[in-house]
Amino acid sequence: MSKTNEGWGSRVGLILAMAGNAVGLGNFLRFPVKAVQNGGGTFIIPYLVSFLLMGIPLLWVEWSMGRFGGRYGDHSTPFILDNMTKKRFWKYFGVFGIFTNVGVISYYTYIESWTLSYTIKSLKGDFLGVPLNQVGEMFDHYVNISGGINLPTWGLLAFIVTLGINIYILSRGLSNGIEKVAKVAMPLLIIFGVFLAIMSISLGATGKCADCNSHIGLNFLWKPDAKSLFNPTVWLEAAGQIFFTLSVGMGTIHCYSSYLRKRDDIALNAMTAGWMNGFVEIVLGASVVVPIAVGYLGLDWVVENAGFMMAFKTMPFLFDQWGPALAVMAGVAWFGLLFIAGITSSLAMGTPWMGFMQDEFKWSRNKSAWTLGLLVLLMALPTILFFEYGVFDEYDYWTGTVSLVVFALAEIILFAWVFGIDKGWEEITSGADMKVPFVFKFVIKYITPAFILVIFLASLITPEGGDWSSIFNGNYKLSSQSIIGKILHVGETNKSWFVNGQPSKLFFIDMSRVLLISLFAGICFLVHQAQKQRSKLK
Ligand code: PHE
Repeated sequence: MSKTNEGWGSRVGLILAMAGNAVGLGNFLRFPVKAVQNGGGTFIIPYLVSFLLMGIPLLWVEWSMGRFGGRYGDHSTPFILDNMTKKRFWKYFGVFGIFTNVGVISYYTYIESWTLSYTIKSLKGDFLGVPLNQVGEMFDHYVNISGGINLPTWGLLAFIVTLGINIYILSRGLSNGIEKVAKVAMPLLIIFGVFLAIMSISLGATGKCADCNSHIGLNFLWKPDAKSLFNPTVWLEAAGQIFFTLSVGMGTIHCYSSYLRKRDDIALNAMTAGWMNGFVEIVLGASVVVPIAVGYLGLDWVVENAGFMMAFKTMPFLFDQWGPALAVMAGVAWFGLLFIAGITSSLAMGTPWMGFMQDEFKWSRNKSAWTLGLLVLLMALPTILFFEYGVFDEYDYWTGTVSLVVFALAEIILFAWVFGIDKGWEEITSGADMKVPFVFKFVIKYITPAFILVIFLASLITPEGGDWSSIFNGNYKLSSQSIIGKILHVGETNKSWFVNGQPSKLFFIDMSRVLLISLFAGICFLVHQAQKQRSKLK
């Protein structure tokens, strides 16, 4: 509980900040890759259904939970959740709402720092006239892949600068820092995105190969195809993308909306930010990497090589085909756009820690911001130094994927069943500037929780190769990507931490897990301390 002088300056500022929170690297790097890997147009129907039945309901739920908690002076999920029930254990689910953000920000700001470096490199013309394989090598060198355990000097330096910028803005506060940045950054992002989309769409056939045509790429992503409707793996991937791109199941939205006032609208604001994110993802996100790459390298190449590194390893070379002036402009627009998308999201991820420390331990904004910086630096170093040992992927799997589902499941049960859907509906609709369709009361109570539960259970036991029929025909084998498979290191042939006296990949993976569990336990401890202090004050 705290008296805070933090708050949003204006409605436009709030919506842009919330949209900035949602619009991120997920829209431009993660979405196109996931779509391509899951068959392009076959991805789009499960994606849209997940958006309607899970994304939108969760947005409303999280916005209203946040505003509700803010009324009691709480700005972090442990105590926002605590206000909604008499049972004390729920606040420990709220630990996810801080943990996830610190975990994700630790690898997310690293990618963000690549985009900063690449904006500068593009501006300097570093990629002009460089052949494709060398552009790829430049990237490997930058993150020091295959370089053994040496320092990726520039990568590290750029990371520290990027983190510093984030921390500085966070220390300026909500309306003076984040909101001001969002008001300039979001329009700029749209301008860059539209410019690149126009370049991409007008590219058409390049004659570099038989199917080298950007329209083939667009068609591949946008043309709905019902083929995958019965493929649970595509559903899992689509739902996972909805979580990540909308930033739901994270605790960030709760934190942002806890600074709303009691009568502020939720229903329409949440819709606006959510649809803005959808537009940026489906229209702009789909229009850049994939179609341009198809335009020069063909669809087969793209399907085979899809991965989020494509944005760094391929795009600079493709822009170069447009002549030096346009190449520099497109490079700056592309990496600049990614940087903007990234920073408005990483700022959001910084706020739950800040809100928690300010509320509970009466820390100043500065102190909260700089300790966050130290914590993130500590967590991020392993992902930077041991990038090629899978530390990065491990963070992404546990904090950027699994935690979101677990937390979302807990919060929707709390909201619809413990707090109660009648009270919950009242929260969503009070002060609303739009009529919320009544059917969503039913959706939030039954459909969304069931949807998330099924996703969670299916992720636990995903079969190898996505062969779900194997469950019924006796050939079932656990996938190494399923939650249980990950925990048990399924498919890992090497079972020891050291091979020939050198630490193995398994060692780095297990150490990352130790680090993540320690982080979680550490936050639980802080929550426990905070609760003790609160009890004393009563
Ligand atoms: N939604 C952001 C993206 O698409 C990622 C994000 C996750 C932002 C969690 C804030 C909190 O990249």
